[in-house]
Amino acid sequence: MTVTEALKRRRAIKEYDPDFVIPEKDIKELFEKTLLTPSSFNLQHWRFAAAVDAAVKERLCEAAWGQRHIREASLVVVVAGNLDAAENAAEYWRNAPERVREKMVPQIGKFYRDDDELKRDEAIRSASLAAMSLMLVATEKGYATCPMIGFDAAKAAEIVRMPSGWIPVMMITVGRGLCEPRPKPGQLRVEDVAFWNTFEGEPVK
Ligand SMILES: Cc1cc2nc3c(=O)[nH]c(=O)nc-3n(C[C@H](O)[C@H](O)[C@H](O)COP(=O)(O)O)c2cc1C
Repeated sequence: MTVTEALKRRRAIKEYDPDFVIPEKDIKELFEKTLLTPSSFNLQHWRFAAAVDAAVKERLCEAAWGQRHIREASLVVVVAGNLDAAENAAEYWRNAPERVREKMVPQIGKFYRDDDELKRDEAIRSASLAAMSLMLVATEKGYATCPMIGFDAAKAAEIVRMPSGWIPVMMITVGRGLCEPRPKPGQLRVEDVAFWNTFEGEPVK
């Protein structure tokens, strides 16, 4: 499957076969490939809770005001973003040559120091990129997915025992889809969203 095919095939699917079980090796592969996602300074802010237990999914479903695809999907990935990733930069640069590591680690610390907004932006940015990777890999493997933010973040964090310093970014349902995607409600065109050089430039047509 090409990237274009995966982008076209991935759609938000909201009905799943509740009896279908995704093999553990597939779930591991989803995460292995997701880890190829880029992140600022290689800080890999993403963390994942892979909810497969019916009881956990049920509680997540309640935290999402009863959106039943959470209950029915084989796997619900709760994607978290690490606000404190920069503090562990040495870990994420451990394989770099020593002189590179010694230069980069303090530089990264300085870049983020005392900037909570940047830390939060980065956590959400990286985790969101990872979420998209995960959906595309799942699509390639024939699974249906749905990204979700319609949930009570504090409740979801509590259910999956998210450590402090991490924030819930998104949930992704994964499973065997049972329905066709809904028609897209109104897509923008290239010329509505892309402009040459600056946002005051001509639209890209
Ligand atoms: C960040 C994000 C949050 C979303 N939250 C929900 C949600 O809580 N529940 C839901 O059913 N769909 C949710 N969706 C799915 C969108 O409704 C869907 O992606 C959008 O309508 C476009 O359709 P498509 O994904 O099939 O292209 C979300 C999508 C994104 C990207």
